[in-house]
Amino acid sequence: MTTIDLSTQIAGIHLDSYLMNASGPKCTTWDELLVIGKSASAAIVTKSCTLEFREGNPEPRYSDLPLGSIQSMGLPNLGYKAYLEMVPELKALGKPVVVSISGFSIEENSEMVTAFQNSDVDLIEVNFSCPNIPGKAQVAYDFEQTESALAALTKLGNKPIGIKLAPYFDMSHFIAIANIIKKFPVKFITCVNSIGNTLIIDPETEQPIIKPKGGFGGLCGDYIKPIGLANVRAFRELLDDSVQIIGVGGIKNGTDAFEYLLAGADAVQIATCFEKEGAVCFARIENELKAFMAKKGYNKLSDAKGKLKPL
Ligand SMILES: Cc1cc2nc3c(=O)[nH]c(=O)nc-3n(C[C@H](O)[C@H](O)[C@H](O)COP(=O)(O)O)c2cc1C
Repeated sequence: MTTIDLSTQIAGIHLDSYLMNASGPKCTTWDELLVIGKSASAAIVTKSCTLEFREGNPEPRYSDLPLGSIQSMGLPNLGYKAYLEMVPELKALGKPVVVSISGFSIEENSEMVTAFQNSDVDLIEVNFSCPNIPGKAQVAYDFEQTESALAALTKLGNKPIGIKLAPYFDMSHFIAIANIIKKFPVKFITCVNSIGNTLIIDPETEQPIIKPKGGFGGLCGDYIKPIGLANVRAFRELLDDSVQIIGVGGIKNGTDAFEYLLAGADAVQIATCFEKEGAVCFARIENELKAFMAKKGYNKLSDAKGKLKPL
């Protein structure tokens, strides 16, 4: 069989393959990050961290759904200093380390970005799109705040910085966000976070299936793949190649990953499927993607990247 080369790069950081974990599932503790380090994930992405340790929201706060998941975790994490201390050991596992940060203000994010700028992490992903903190709006839906935050955070050092975006649903919003991103040296965007504030009701118990926020939580998995694909595609067409795109949303097999490639993603992340299946999902999806590309006669990502054909 021909060898299929799935190597790629984000902001000049080489990745051996196209697939990595997404911030969120099973990436909070050292033991969990070690499992990712030993898997076929091309990078180790940490849970979004905050200034201090957080318990997160009351349970139940995650539920599997037939076609994905709903969750309102509320950013349970060890606090950024714990991840900062882990960086040397994480790097020693031999693959790029991506830290996700999710402060509650520009000042908090500035403190964390500065700390990680002075560390050995490879990429910094700032989460502008957590929908699950009671009383806190998503930065990504507030265009003025997005602009002020980027103005502050992109001047704190030379390490590549990217942002995790919320899903957008209107062409005017894609254009507005793209125009803001163009003003700053944003190296990558990760599209999309879960669709915030959705409600799943159990008709038997007559209750929501998760507890926080009256049952309102982020929808993930198959349900959101068309939205993730559209966001990747829209931003790929609006931004130039200096801004790379990591696709996320509903990837659970090789053809899902291939669809994100056609839409223009430079790499992809996996959350719900990793939560449900464990770290074996990375090698499985990688092999499925390779087999699908081989069938198509493609042997490297650039053969198909962004090449969605017009109908
Ligand atoms: C349990 C869980 C926790 C999550 N926590 C975070 C987080 O801390 N930071 C973040 O940027 N996204 C978080 N997400 C969102 C995922 O990174 C991803 O954007 C979303 O789940 C869509 O991908 P999927 O369809 O593969 O699940 C979380 C998702 C899940 C399921």
